[in-house]
Amino acid sequence: MITKLIKIAQTSESEEIKQASELIRQGELVAFPTETVYGLGGDALQPDAASKIYAAKGRPSDNPLIVHICKIEDLKKIAKNIPDKAYTLAEHFWPGPLTMIFDKKDCVPDGTTGGMDTVAVRMPSHPVALELIKQSGGFIAAPSANTSGRPSPTKAAHVYEDLNGKIPMILDGGAVGIGLESTIVDFTSQVPTILRPGFLTAEDFAPLIGEVFIDPGIIASDSSIKPKAPGMKYRHYAPGGALTIVRGDNERTAEYITSQVQKYGESKRVMVLCLKDHEKNFTHVQHLVLGNDMQEIAANLFSALRICDEKKADLIYSEAVEERGLGRAIMNRLKKAAGGEIVDV
Ligand code: TXA
Ligand code: MG
Repeated sequence: MITKLIKIAQTSESEEIKQASELIRQGELVAFPTETVYGLGGDALQPDAASKIYAAKGRPSDNPLIVHICKIEDLKKIAKNIPDKAYTLAEHFWPGPLTMIFDKKDCVPDGTTGGMDTVAVRMPSHPVALELIKQSGGFIAAPSANTSGRPSPTKAAHVYEDLNGKIPMILDGGAVGIGLESTIVDFTSQVPTILRPGFLTAEDFAPLIGEVFIDPGIIASDSSIKPKAPGMKYRHYAPGGALTIVRGDNERTAEYITSQVQKYGESKRVMVLCLKDHEKNFTHVQHLVLGNDMQEIAANLFSALRICDEKKADLIYSEAVEERGLGRAIMNRLKKAAGGEIVDV
Protein backbone atom coordinates (compact mmCIF):
# COMPACT_ATOMS: atom_id res chain seq x y z
CA MET A 1 0.00 0.00 0.00
CA ILE A 2 1.22 3.51 -0.82
CA THR A 3 1.08 5.85 2.17
CA LYS A 4 0.32 9.47 1.31
CA LEU A 5 1.96 11.94 3.70
CA ILE A 6 0.06 15.21 3.42
CA LYS A 7 0.88 18.57 5.07
CA ILE A 8 -2.16 20.42 6.37
CA ALA A 9 -1.76 24.19 6.28
CA GLN A 10 -5.27 25.23 7.28
CA THR A 11 -8.33 23.29 8.35
CA SER A 12 -11.18 25.28 6.87
CA GLU A 13 -12.30 23.90 3.51
CA SER A 14 -9.27 21.64 3.39
CA GLU A 15 -9.49 19.25 0.43
CA GLU A 16 -7.06 16.90 2.23
CA ILE A 17 -9.20 16.60 5.37
CA LYS A 18 -12.18 15.89 3.13
CA GLN A 19 -10.28 13.07 1.40
CA ALA A 20 -9.15 11.71 4.76
CA SER A 21 -12.72 11.68 6.07
CA GLU A 22 -13.89 9.81 2.97
CA LEU A 23 -11.27 7.13 3.67
CA ILE A 24 -12.48 6.82 7.26
CA ARG A 25 -16.13 6.56 6.19
CA GLN A 26 -15.07 3.74 3.84
CA GLY A 27 -13.58 1.88 6.80
CA GLU A 28 -9.93 2.80 6.03
CA LEU A 29 -7.34 4.25 8.40
CA VAL A 30 -5.83 7.74 8.56
CA ALA A 31 -3.17 8.98 10.99
CA PHE A 32 -3.77 12.51 12.25
CA PRO A 33 -2.30 15.00 14.74
CA THR A 34 -3.82 15.63 18.16
CA GLU A 35 -2.47 17.94 20.87
CA THR A 36 -1.07 14.94 22.81
CA VAL A 37 0.41 12.53 20.23
CA TYR A 38 -0.48 11.45 16.67
CA GLY A 39 -3.44 9.06 16.48
CA LEU A 40 -4.22 6.21 14.07
CA GLY A 41 -7.89 6.75 13.26
CA GLY A 42 -10.64 4.52 11.98
CA ASP A 43 -14.45 4.71 12.23
CA ALA A 44 -15.21 3.72 15.85
CA LEU A 45 -18.62 2.29 14.91
CA GLN A 46 -17.32 -0.06 12.16
CA PRO A 47 -15.96 -3.32 13.63
CA ASP A 48 -13.65 -3.91 10.65
CA ALA A 49 -11.88 -0.60 11.17
CA ALA A 50 -10.80 -1.69 14.66
CA SER A 51 -9.32 -4.94 13.28
CA LYS A 52 -7.36 -2.92 10.73
CA ILE A 53 -6.01 -0.68 13.50
CA TYR A 54 -4.83 -3.66 15.56
CA ALA A 55 -3.19 -5.20 12.49
CA ALA A 56 -1.39 -1.99 11.39
CA LYS A 57 0.01 -1.40 14.89
CA GLY A 58 0.72 -5.05 15.67
CA ARG A 59 -1.28 -4.44 18.84
CA PRO A 60 -2.92 -7.13 20.98
CA SER A 61 -6.66 -6.94 20.27
CA ASP A 62 -7.59 -7.13 23.97
CA ASN A 63 -6.24 -3.60 24.38
CA PRO A 64 -9.19 -1.21 23.90
CA LEU A 65 -9.17 1.95 21.76
CA ILE A 66 -10.17 5.50 22.71
CA VAL A 67 -13.18 6.91 20.83
CA HIS A 68 -12.61 10.54 19.80
CA ILE A 69 -15.59 12.88 19.48
CA CYS A 70 -15.91 16.55 18.44
CA LYS A 71 -18.82 17.75 20.61
CA ILE A 72 -19.94 16.98 24.17
CA GLU A 73 -23.50 16.12 23.05
CA ASP A 74 -22.11 13.07 21.21
CA LEU A 75 -20.86 11.50 24.45
CA LYS A 76 -24.29 10.15 25.41
CA LYS A 77 -24.69 8.48 22.02
CA ILE A 78 -21.94 5.97 22.84
CA ALA A 79 -21.80 5.94 26.68
CA LYS A 80 -24.32 5.42 29.49
CA ASN A 81 -24.45 6.06 33.25
CA ILE A 82 -22.49 9.29 32.81
CA PRO A 83 -22.16 10.98 36.22
CA ASP A 84 -22.47 14.77 36.67
CA LYS A 85 -18.83 14.92 37.76
CA ALA A 86 -17.81 13.67 34.31
CA TYR A 87 -19.77 16.47 32.66
CA THR A 88 -18.05 18.93 35.00
CA LEU A 89 -14.66 17.70 33.79
CA ALA A 90 -15.81 17.65 30.17
CA GLU A 91 -16.95 21.27 30.40
CA HIS A 92 -13.62 22.35 31.92
CA PHE A 93 -11.14 20.27 29.98
CA TRP A 94 -12.72 19.32 26.64
CA PRO A 95 -11.54 19.78 24.03
CA GLY A 96 -8.25 18.69 25.59
CA PRO A 97 -5.95 15.93 26.89
CA LEU A 98 -8.58 14.12 28.99
CA THR A 99 -10.05 10.65 28.33
CA MET A 100 -12.95 9.37 30.43
CA ILE A 101 -14.27 5.81 30.76
CA PHE A 102 -17.98 4.90 31.01
CA ASP A 103 -20.29 1.94 30.42
CA LYS A 104 -20.66 1.56 26.67
CA LYS A 105 -23.80 1.61 24.59
CA ASP A 106 -24.54 -1.27 22.19
CA CYS A 107 -23.70 0.79 19.08
CA VAL A 108 -19.98 0.61 20.01
CA PRO A 109 -18.60 -2.66 18.58
CA ASP A 110 -16.69 -5.08 20.83
CA GLY A 111 -13.72 -4.74 18.50
CA THR A 112 -13.35 -1.05 19.41
CA THR A 113 -13.40 -1.73 23.16
CA GLY A 114 -11.29 -4.89 23.07
CA GLY A 115 -14.28 -6.88 24.31
CA MET A 116 -14.84 -4.67 27.37
CA ASP A 117 -18.29 -3.37 28.26
CA THR A 118 -16.86 0.07 28.93
CA VAL A 119 -15.72 2.73 26.45
CA ALA A 120 -12.98 5.37 26.68
CA VAL A 121 -13.94 8.76 25.19
CA ARG A 122 -11.95 11.92 24.47
CA MET A 123 -12.51 15.20 22.63
CA PRO A 124 -9.10 16.37 21.36
CA SER A 125 -8.37 20.07 20.86
CA HIS A 126 -6.20 19.95 17.74
CA PRO A 127 -8.12 21.72 14.94
CA VAL A 128 -7.18 19.06 12.35
CA ALA A 129 -8.44 16.30 14.64
CA LEU A 130 -11.71 18.11 15.38
CA GLU A 131 -12.42 18.81 11.72
CA LEU A 132 -11.57 15.24 10.69
CA ILE A 133 -13.86 13.75 13.38
CA LYS A 134 -16.68 16.09 12.35
CA GLN A 135 -16.44 15.24 8.65
CA SER A 136 -15.99 11.51 9.31
CA GLY A 137 -19.32 11.08 11.10
CA GLY A 138 -18.37 12.02 14.67
CA PHE A 139 -16.67 8.93 16.19
CA ILE A 140 -13.04 8.06 15.45
CA ALA A 141 -11.29 5.23 17.32
CA ALA A 142 -7.63 6.13 17.60
CA PRO A 143 -4.73 4.68 19.51
CA SER A 144 -1.35 6.38 19.32
CA ALA A 145 -0.06 5.97 15.73
CA ASN A 146 3.08 3.97 16.57
CA THR A 147 3.95 0.32 16.11
CA SER A 148 2.91 -1.38 19.35
CA GLY A 149 5.71 -1.13 21.91
CA ARG A 150 7.54 1.80 20.26
CA PRO A 151 7.47 5.38 21.62
CA SER A 152 4.27 7.29 20.71
CA PRO A 153 4.69 9.60 17.68
CA THR A 154 4.98 13.32 18.31
CA LYS A 155 5.71 14.18 14.64
CA ALA A 156 4.29 12.92 11.34
CA ALA A 157 7.78 11.61 10.47
CA HIS A 158 7.56 9.22 13.45
CA VAL A 159 4.25 7.87 12.13
CA TYR A 160 5.79 7.44 8.68
CA GLU A 161 8.73 5.55 10.20
CA ASP A 162 6.37 3.01 11.83
CA LEU A 163 3.39 2.77 9.46
CA ASN A 164 4.64 3.53 5.94
CA GLY A 165 3.08 0.98 3.57
CA LYS A 166 0.48 -0.09 6.14
CA ILE A 167 -2.07 2.75 5.97
CA PRO A 168 -3.28 4.93 3.07
CA MET A 169 -2.81 8.41 4.58
CA ILE A 170 -0.99 10.46 7.22
CA LEU A 171 -2.07 14.05 7.87
CA ASP A 172 0.96 16.12 8.89
CA GLY A 173 -0.01 18.95 11.24
CA GLY A 174 3.53 19.56 12.53
CA ALA A 175 4.94 18.65 15.94
CA VAL A 176 2.36 18.10 18.69
CA GLY A 177 2.16 20.46 21.69
CA ILE A 178 2.02 18.19 24.74
CA GLY A 179 3.93 15.07 23.72
CA LEU A 180 2.46 12.57 26.23
CA GLU A 181 -0.86 10.75 25.85
CA SER A 182 -4.04 11.99 27.55
CA THR A 183 -4.86 11.49 31.22
CA ILE A 184 -7.40 8.65 31.58
CA VAL A 185 -10.07 8.91 34.30
CA ASP A 186 -12.34 5.92 34.99
CA PHE A 187 -15.89 6.92 35.90
CA THR A 188 -17.16 3.36 36.26
CA SER A 189 -15.58 3.01 39.71
CA GLN A 190 -17.17 4.47 42.86
CA VAL A 191 -14.56 7.21 43.12
CA PRO A 192 -13.22 8.58 39.80
CA THR A 193 -9.83 6.96 39.30
CA ILE A 194 -6.84 7.96 37.16
CA LEU A 195 -5.75 4.93 35.11
CA ARG A 196 -3.02 6.73 33.13
CA PRO A 197 -1.27 9.92 34.33
CA GLY A 198 -0.96 12.76 31.79
CA PHE A 199 -0.80 16.52 31.34
CA LEU A 200 -3.94 16.99 33.49
CA THR A 201 -3.42 15.78 37.06
CA ALA A 202 -5.40 14.79 40.17
CA GLU A 203 -4.59 18.29 41.48
CA ASP A 204 -6.41 19.81 38.46
CA PHE A 205 -9.51 17.64 39.02
CA ALA A 206 -9.90 17.72 42.82
CA PRO A 207 -11.08 21.35 43.16
CA LEU A 208 -13.86 20.63 40.63
CA ILE A 209 -15.06 17.13 41.58
CA GLY A 210 -13.47 16.32 44.95
CA GLU A 211 -11.64 13.12 45.67
CA VAL A 212 -9.90 11.35 42.77
CA PHE A 213 -7.99 8.09 43.22
CA ILE A 214 -4.90 7.00 41.33
CA ASP A 215 -4.98 3.36 40.14
CA PRO A 216 -2.46 1.55 42.37
CA GLY A 217 -1.49 -0.58 39.35
CA ILE A 218 0.25 2.39 37.69
CA ILE A 219 2.36 3.35 40.70
CA ALA A 220 3.14 -0.13 42.00
CA SER A 221 6.85 -0.87 42.02
CA ASP A 222 6.16 -4.59 41.61
CA SER A 223 3.99 -6.11 38.93
CA SER A 224 1.66 -7.98 41.32
CA ILE A 225 -0.99 -5.23 41.17
CA LYS A 226 -2.48 -5.21 37.67
CA PRO A 227 -3.33 -1.78 36.22
CA LYS A 228 -6.98 -1.42 35.20
CA ALA A 229 -6.22 0.07 31.75
CA PRO A 230 -5.10 -2.99 29.77
CA GLY A 231 -2.54 -0.96 27.81
CA MET A 232 -0.67 0.02 30.97
CA LYS A 233 0.42 -3.55 31.62
CA TYR A 234 2.55 -3.79 28.51
CA ARG A 235 6.21 -2.75 28.32
CA HIS A 236 5.95 0.29 26.16
CA TYR A 237 7.77 3.13 24.50
CA ALA A 238 10.79 0.91 24.63
CA PRO A 239 13.89 1.93 22.67
CA GLY A 240 16.12 -0.80 21.24
CA GLY A 241 18.85 -0.10 23.82
CA ALA A 242 18.56 -0.91 27.51
CA LEU A 243 17.33 2.16 29.38
CA THR A 244 18.18 2.81 33.03
CA ILE A 245 16.74 5.68 35.04
CA VAL A 246 19.18 7.21 37.51
CA ARG A 247 17.47 8.91 40.44
CA GLY A 248 18.99 11.04 43.21
CA ASP A 249 21.22 14.02 43.84
CA ASN A 250 22.45 15.70 40.60
CA GLU A 251 26.15 15.29 41.27
CA ARG A 252 25.88 11.67 42.34
CA THR A 253 23.75 11.01 39.26
CA ALA A 254 26.45 12.50 37.02
CA GLU A 255 29.15 10.50 38.84
CA TYR A 256 27.22 7.25 38.47
CA ILE A 257 26.55 7.77 34.78
CA THR A 258 30.17 8.78 34.13
CA SER A 259 31.39 5.64 35.87
CA GLN A 260 29.05 3.51 33.75
CA VAL A 261 30.28 5.22 30.58
CA GLN A 262 33.88 4.51 31.63
CA LYS A 263 32.98 0.91 32.35
CA TYR A 264 31.16 0.24 29.09
CA GLY A 265 32.23 3.14 26.87
CA GLU A 266 34.60 1.10 24.70
CA SER A 267 32.31 -1.83 24.05
CA LYS A 268 28.87 -0.17 23.97
CA ARG A 269 27.24 2.89 22.46
CA VAL A 270 25.97 4.92 25.40
CA MET A 271 23.44 7.78 25.27
CA VAL A 272 22.47 10.03 28.17
CA LEU A 273 19.15 11.87 28.50
CA CYS A 274 19.59 14.91 30.73
CA LEU A 275 18.01 18.16 31.85
CA LYS A 276 19.23 21.38 30.22
CA ASP A 277 20.64 22.67 33.50
CA HIS A 278 22.72 19.52 33.93
CA GLU A 279 24.12 19.38 30.41
CA LYS A 280 27.45 20.67 31.72
CA ASN A 281 27.84 17.39 33.65
CA PHE A 282 27.60 15.34 30.46
CA THR A 283 29.67 17.23 27.87
CA HIS A 284 32.12 14.29 27.68
CA VAL A 285 29.44 11.78 26.62
CA GLN A 286 26.84 11.50 23.85
CA HIS A 287 23.76 13.11 25.30
CA LEU A 288 20.35 14.53 24.41
CA VAL A 289 18.84 17.45 26.29
CA LEU A 290 15.22 16.87 27.33
CA GLY A 291 14.67 20.47 28.46
CA ASN A 292 14.29 22.14 31.82
CA ASP A 293 10.66 22.56 32.72
CA MET A 294 8.26 19.65 32.81
CA GLN A 295 6.34 20.76 29.71
CA GLU A 296 9.52 20.85 27.62
CA ILE A 297 10.61 17.46 28.91
CA ALA A 298 7.18 15.96 28.14
CA ALA A 299 7.27 17.37 24.60
CA ASN A 300 10.77 15.99 23.89
CA LEU A 301 10.78 12.63 25.65
CA PHE A 302 9.36 10.28 22.97
CA SER A 303 11.34 11.96 20.23
CA ALA A 304 14.54 11.53 22.28
CA LEU A 305 13.82 7.80 22.74
CA ARG A 306 13.45 7.48 18.96
CA ILE A 307 16.77 9.32 18.42
CA CYS A 308 18.42 6.76 20.73
CA ASP A 309 17.24 4.10 18.25
CA GLU A 310 18.51 6.05 15.24
CA LYS A 311 21.93 6.36 16.91
CA LYS A 312 21.76 2.65 17.73
CA ALA A 313 22.47 3.26 21.42
CA ASP A 314 23.10 0.02 23.31
CA LEU A 315 22.76 1.61 26.73
CA ILE A 316 20.71 4.67 27.67
CA TYR A 317 20.86 6.46 31.00
CA SER A 318 18.21 9.03 31.83
CA GLU A 319 18.06 11.48 34.70
CA ALA A 320 14.86 11.17 36.75
CA VAL A 321 12.39 14.01 37.39
CA GLU A 322 10.36 14.70 40.51
CA GLU A 323 7.09 12.71 40.57
CA ARG A 324 4.80 15.68 41.08
CA GLY A 325 2.22 17.17 38.68
CA LEU A 326 3.26 16.50 35.07
CA GLY A 327 6.44 14.86 36.45
CA ARG A 328 4.31 11.87 37.42
CA ALA A 329 3.31 11.26 33.79
CA ILE A 330 6.90 11.74 32.58
CA MET A 331 8.26 9.24 35.11
CA ASN A 332 5.42 6.81 34.29
CA ARG A 333 6.45 6.76 30.60
CA LEU A 334 10.17 6.62 31.43
CA LYS A 335 9.65 3.70 33.81
CA LYS A 336 7.67 1.79 31.20
CA ALA A 337 10.38 2.45 28.63
CA ALA A 338 12.99 1.27 31.15
CA GLY A 339 11.00 -1.83 32.08
CA GLY A 340 11.27 -0.68 35.72
CA GLU A 341 15.10 -0.38 35.68
CA ILE A 342 15.88 2.37 38.23
CA VAL A 343 19.12 3.01 40.08
CA ASP A 344 18.93 5.17 43.21
CA VAL A 345 22.18 7.01 43.89
O1 TXA B 1 -3.68 11.09 23.98
C1 TXA B 1 -4.20 10.00 23.71
O2 TXA B 1 -5.00 9.45 24.48
C2 TXA B 1 -3.86 9.35 22.36
C3 TXA B 1 -4.40 10.26 21.24
C4 TXA B 1 -4.23 9.65 19.89
O3 TXA B 1 -5.72 10.63 21.50
N1 TXA B 1 -4.37 8.02 22.29
C5 TXA B 1 -3.85 6.99 22.97
O4 TXA B 1 -4.45 5.76 22.72
O5 TXA B 1 -2.95 7.11 23.76
P1 TXA B 1 -3.76 4.39 23.10
O6 TXA B 1 -4.63 3.36 22.47
O7 TXA B 1 -2.34 4.39 22.73
O8 TXA B 1 -3.95 4.27 24.64
C6 TXA B 1 -5.24 4.02 25.17
C7 TXA B 1 -5.13 3.51 26.58
C8 TXA B 1 -4.64 2.08 26.67
O9 TXA B 1 -3.78 1.96 27.80
C9 TXA B 1 -5.93 1.30 26.90
O10 TXA B 1 -5.71 0.10 27.57
C10 TXA B 1 -6.76 2.29 27.72
O11 TXA B 1 -6.47 3.52 27.14
N2 TXA B 1 -8.22 2.07 27.57
C11 TXA B 1 -8.98 2.28 26.47
N3 TXA B 1 -10.25 1.92 26.68
C12 TXA B 1 -10.32 1.47 27.97
C13 TXA B 1 -11.36 0.94 28.77
N4 TXA B 1 -12.60 0.78 28.33
N5 TXA B 1 -11.05 0.57 30.05
C14 TXA B 1 -9.78 0.71 30.52
N6 TXA B 1 -8.75 1.22 29.79
C15 TXA B 1 -9.01 1.57 28.53
MG1 MG C 1 -0.33 3.98 22.75
